[in-house]
Amino acid sequence: ILQAAKKEIDSASSLAQLNELKVNYLGKKGEITTLLRQMGSLSPEERPVMGKLANEVKEEIQSLTEKKEDYLKQKELEDKLLKESIDITLPGTGRNIGGLNPLTIVKRAMEETFISMGYEIVEGPEIENEFYNFEALNLPATHPARDMQDTFYITDEFLLRTHTSPVQVRTMLKKEGKLPVKIVSPGRVFRKDDDPTHSPVFQQLEGLVVDENITMADLKGTLLLFAQKMFGKDKKIRLRPSYFPFTEPSAEVDISCIMCDGDGCGTCSQTGWVEILGAGMVHPNVLKNAGYDPNKVQGFAFGIGIERVAMLKYGVKDIRDFYSGDIRVSKQFIGG
Ligand code: PHE
Repeated sequence: ILQAAKKEIDSASSLAQLNELKVNYLGKKGEITTLLRQMGSLSPEERPVMGKLANEVKEEIQSLTEKKEDYLKQKELEDKLLKESIDITLPGTGRNIGGLNPLTIVKRAMEETFISMGYEIVEGPEIENEFYNFEALNLPATHPARDMQDTFYITDEFLLRTHTSPVQVRTMLKKEGKLPVKIVSPGRVFRKDDDPTHSPVFQQLEGLVVDENITMADLKGTLLLFAQKMFGKDKKIRLRPSYFPFTEPSAEVDISCIMCDGDGCGTCSQTGWVEILGAGMVHPNVLKNAGYDPNKVQGFAFGIGIERVAMLKYGVKDIRDFYSGDIRVSKQFIGG
């Protein structure tokens, strides 16, 4: 019996099989049990010998099945672990994730640049009134320069701001004459324009510094540093005399760009310069309107076109692509 049992236990390859064996040998109707039950028919001399033998065989089979059981359980666990293990070197199934609009990417980079120069970021309302958008900026109702910016009016009083310059006035009035003022203000502005380089909605980043002894050289140095941080150390800037009612003197500022023939050269003009911003020294009337004494303090201001910077950076030719909502445009900037 023991020999047969040993063989069968050895070859049992599953717990179920082993269990069957256990029943066959040790169960109520199993071979050993039957044997022990038959002891009554033996002679008194044979009984203890057979009893001892039968019990030894029983114990042997018991311990063998226990060992095998442990082994099979362990094996089953190992198989399970092996089956359920994940091969992390397999390529994953990619998820579709969104991307930032290139204007957001550029806006944040511009903000970072000015934060690194010690500027604070402030925001102003998109719906303005004539005082902040025009009057306080030295543009009285009769001023012809109001035509420069074709305005969307909401009511007689309220309008969509045509530039971020009203934030200059709001900031200075809030500061109540305290120095220094050193802010940038990004945001959307609105004009009745619609062509490849003008969109009815676009974004500017306004800058304003007011303190004692501020000069045009500070303005130029700041803008050069900005241009080089955004576009690379080799960049140059060029100031052209211009006119804004709220700055005197005023300038339009170009950044050098790489000229190339034909297509694929983005927004760089034939001259090798691209206009990206308007700037100047804060007009004495604006300082006065906002509670500062123009005899004691000076300031410079600038308004950078965020789309212009993005067009230059990414070689985009039509400003309206930024606002088309075309997923093929935004897909190119995922992860950027
Ligand atoms: N507000 C001007 C514009 O919209 C830009 C500007 C800002 C010019 C600040 C001078 C100073 O074009």
